[in-house]
Amino acid sequence: TKAVTIPALFEMRAKGEKITMLTAYDASFASLMDSCGVETLLIGDSLGMVCQGHNSTLTVTIDEVAYHTASVARGNKTALVLADMPFGSYPTKEEAFRNAVKLVQAGAQMVKIEGGAWVVDTVRFLVEREIPVCAHLGLTPQSVNRFGGYKVQGKTSDAAQQMRADALALQEAGASLLVLEAIPAGLGKEITDALTMPTIGIGAGPDCAGQVLVMHDFIGVFPGRKARFVKNFMEGQASIEGAVRAYIREVKDGTFPAAEHCF
Ligand code: KIV
Ligand code: NA
Repeated sequence: TKAVTIPALFEMRAKGEKITMLTAYDASFASLMDSCGVETLLIGDSLGMVCQGHNSTLTVTIDEVAYHTASVARGNKTALVLADMPFGSYPTKEEAFRNAVKLVQAGAQMVKIEGGAWVVDTVRFLVEREIPVCAHLGLTPQSVNRFGGYKVQGKTSDAAQQMRADALALQEAGASLLVLEAIPAGLGKEITDALTMPTIGIGAGPDCAGQVLVMHDFIGVFPGRKARFVKNFMEGQASIEGAVRAYIREVKDGTFPAAEHCF
């Protein structure tokens, strides 16, 4: 199989073929997910919660993300690898670039940055310097202290309008993907329809261009609270490979996410 590229993801979006993304943190799982055909692997700062046992993502460092990125990159052959810029790693555009380079050197082809208007200049700065960026709006976990918990975002019409404006500004700045987390399904559709770049939803409804789940959630091994948007794909499967294939199948044919996973 051919390596997955950013233009290939835009083509999928244009053809209406759903994009699959899973998080990965090590070489073996990355290899399994890649060989099953998952198009994109995300080294999420969720590693602070699912690997390290913290109760937020806020303690994760750039070197920790780089370490896991290098492991994933060694296990991967064809998926597009993107890695999270953790909390505090992008206070200025120059520092963001220095830190993003560490992730690229570890094997990432794209970095992901949480936030709206305040990160637009940073996104442009990285993209101009040839580091592709995935933006992330909605329930951005690095904002947990301001939000006062992991709560659905974009519920008021003001918040929804702001998010739509942020999405357009991030696209204008050169972002090539947008993760939308925990927002009303209708807003997920509205933002997706307003953009040319593909959206990847997690609790953002079935109309996003693709879907993402955290690995430990989709195989049902995360001991913490299970979010509404999570589905355990091990149910009815005899192997993790079976679960990965079921996830891909259900995203592609639109059965996941179902209404019960949406806001
Ligand atoms: O850190 C992570 O795993 C993420 C995904 C949930 C999108 O950001
Ligand atoms: Na993240």
